[in-house]
Amino acid sequence: MAKMKLYYSPASPYARKVRAVAIETGLDKKMEMIDVALSPVAPNADVDKHNPIGKIPALSVKGMDLFDSPVICEYLDHQHKRRKLLPRKGRTRWVALRQQAMADGLLDAALLARYESFLRPEDRRWPDWSKGQMKKIDGVLDQLEAESKSLKGKPTLGTLSIGCALGYLDFRFASHDWRAKRPKLAKWFSAFSKLPSMKATVPPAA
Ligand code: BEZ
Repeated sequence: MAKMKLYYSPASPYARKVRAVAIETGLDKKMEMIDVALSPVAPNADVDKHNPIGKIPALSVKGMDLFDSPVICEYLDHQHKRRKLLPRKGRTRWVALRQQAMADGLLDAALLARYESFLRPEDRRWPDWSKGQMKKIDGVLDQLEAESKSLKGKPTLGTLSIGCALGYLDFRFASHDWRAKRPKLAKWFSAFSKLPSMKATVPPAA
């Protein structure tokens, strides 16, 4: 059977979530990884062919293109016989989906802040915009600290999403000391980072 093709970038935290899910479910062996370079101001024609929004991750499988990361992860979780990362029913399902929403929301704010400080020409930057995005990030971090008990247990789509989001903060926002006021979250992340799926997908130093 033809392999699935994942269009990704090693620095993308959304693609990292998909890669971690693929490893946890054993589907990484059925996946061809296509490392693409792109940014909001430098689109990639190959990615555009597989995602009209021009973003990664995009998964090409059985003549179909899937995006974005929550859709790809849910698809993958239907393609294996191991323990499901997104429980099919009950409260644990909604806890995992809510965790994914918080992680992706944190990342959406982090990306906007990153583009503002890194991509936008310096004379056109808007400090209040960046401040607003950092407030959203801190809001999610405070909420995760408050409900850190719900992070315990075997990895789920929710906790993998959170692990990748925190990893992105360490990668691109190293000076934002998120651990200082959130000891429980920091302790959880330190242990979670030792999972093989997390270790194999750490963003490259750059
Ligand atoms: C980054 O370099 O921070 C990045 C790259 C791709 C997607 C998202 C973030």
